[in-house]
Amino acid sequence: MIVLGIETSCDETAAALVEETGDQAHPWRIVSSIVASQVDIHREWGGVVPELSARQHVRDICGVVEQALAGRQSDTRSGHFDAVAVTQGPGLIGSLLVGVSFAKSLAWARNVPIIPVHHLAGHIESLVLEGGEMPLPAVVLVVSGGHTSLYSVSAPGSYQRLGRTRDDAAGEAYDKVARLLGLGYPGGPIVDRLAQQGNDRAVPFPRTRLTHADRNAPHLPGRRDFSFSGLKTSVLRHVTLRRAALGLGDQGLLPASEVADICASFQRVVVDTLLEQLFEAARSSGARSVGIAGGVSANSRLRAEAATRGEARALPVFIPRLSLSTDNAAMIAAAGLRRYRAGVTAGWDLNADASLALA
Ligand code: KG4
Ligand code: ZN
Repeated sequence: MIVLGIETSCDETAAALVEETGDQAHPWRIVSSIVASQVDIHREWGGVVPELSARQHVRDICGVVEQALAGRQSDTRSGHFDAVAVTQGPGLIGSLLVGVSFAKSLAWARNVPIIPVHHLAGHIESLVLEGGEMPLPAVVLVVSGGHTSLYSVSAPGSYQRLGRTRDDAAGEAYDKVARLLGLGYPGGPIVDRLAQQGNDRAVPFPRTRLTHADRNAPHLPGRRDFSFSGLKTSVLRHVTLRRAALGLGDQGLLPASEVADICASFQRVVVDTLLEQLFEAARSSGARSVGIAGGVSANSRLRAEAATRGEARALPVFIPRLSLSTDNAAMIAAAGLRRYRAGVTAGWDLNADASLALA
């Protein structure tokens, strides 16, 4: 079986063909995967502008799907698909609607089933797409510009949320810190690079620990939540004080060595927070493997420290290559295949859901 995946939840228009291999350990193979990024459009605004995103998806989707269907030239079966899997949510509603409407029309025209996919299920299955089935139970951290969530995977395709961010996503915190340091967008890769030249103990930024249900926010479930807005505010306060001390204006650039120290100190807190929660959740739930997916998994310190911690605990650590970590449609097709084999398809009344829950 071959599935066409379509992803338009945020600022990437993506389509991919993924087929089943028949091998239980490595169930899927990517035939083609095309991603059209909108980052150059949003850079000018310092973040994703929803209306611009939706309009650009409309412009790009036909070409992206056509390219995915052209597949690899060596693949004689390219162009053929047995079902369409599409991201139903969560994400930007205008952007999601482009993908869902396009996917429904194409599935109807080709007379094939349509499979709705949760965006984060796609991120979780990207680990399997790259590394093969994970030893279960597993704990997976999905960490990107829009999400910071921890899931327990007890059986293939069965995900329970253990925690999520109560405010900013980790990638969002990277982007905001980069902006307030005047470093450009998206900030994650820039802060990561500068941090490598800095002293990670130079500034004692505080860590927010949320290990119990917050009495002030009883509607937010989970015992392993994250919070990054306090850290971001601490960086802002530090930068403001340093600018004043050096007689710089509101937007003045701090000396490069100070910027590197701030980046390194910020990054140490983010990575420690993420990995401590991940490995503590793995320990307490008796997990046999852990995974990290989403754009922030590109982070050099996160990757290196996850590997070290995994080795120390004899826990396999799954982190996909970058092209599968950031938003793509191969992961949506893979998650769609998983759901289809579990008997899930949608009717023609399928609609996008900006705040879709994963359960
Ligand atoms: O998954 P993704 O491509 O898009 C979504 O947000 O869904 O993730 C993008 C996020 C951005 O916030 C970006 O700054 C962050 O991932 N990022 C990084 C790195 N590369 C990308 N954050 C930290 N270190 C990196 N090397
Ligand atoms: Zn994503």
